[in-house]
Amino acid sequence: MIIAIDGPAASGKGTVAKRIAAHYGLPHLDTGALYRAVARDTVARGDDLADPAAAAAAAGRLDVDTLGDPALRTAGVGEAASIVARHGEVRAVLLEYQRRFAKNPAGAVIDGRDIGTVICPDADVKLFVTASPEERARRRYLELRESGIRIGEGEVLADIRNRDARDRTREASPLRQAEDAVLLDTTNLDIDAAFRAAIDLIEAAMGQAGQAG
Ligand code: CDP
Repeated sequence: MIIAIDGPAASGKGTVAKRIAAHYGLPHLDTGALYRAVARDTVARGDDLADPAAAAAAAGRLDVDTLGDPALRTAGVGEAASIVARHGEVRAVLLEYQRRFAKNPAGAVIDGRDIGTVICPDADVKLFVTASPEERARRRYLELRESGIRIGEGEVLADIRNRDARDRTREASPLRQAEDAVLLDTTNLDIDAAFRAAIDLIEAAMGQAGQAG
């Protein structure tokens, strides 16, 4: 069972994806961490994030054991990630790893921006998780504050709008809802309610697929 979860920044998709993976006993891949790590490594070498060849080389050298690095979670790295994520060359390198992950015999839960559209177009279930920009900024602000990062909520909102615009308008695999994805708006849902809503949508989608097959 492949469950593809896409959506804009801080929509709750990562948390929902993690809970869904635990619920079904499936491995989870946060593909945003791949782009964040490529940005981190590009900057660490003193290379230019806007240089496709340098960023693609960093993608080629990526050590996936470093994806849990807490330094990846900052707003600055998120911003840098969306710059390297524009390069088709970077996406091509990371595509291979993501497709291999999806080949896990039991299945996988994969979240990102282009999972339902490009990485796993044949996923069994596709969710597009969203929320209003203000609510997403509020959540990300609380999350960052919790981890000791000092940043204003207005700055977080500006960052989110900026990143969404870049992710939606880029040429290579832009952020968009796949035609066969179901929309989950979490603006008025807390994490438990969002998780339950996601499970209901998944069960409904699986039930329909069962009937059709
Ligand atoms: O956690 P948050 O939603 O803020 O961001 P993320 O999922 O960690 O992704 C960081 C950035 O990586 C995004 O703004 C995208 O530019 C890029 N990304 C992408 O292009 N494709 C993906 N499948 C996942 C992330």
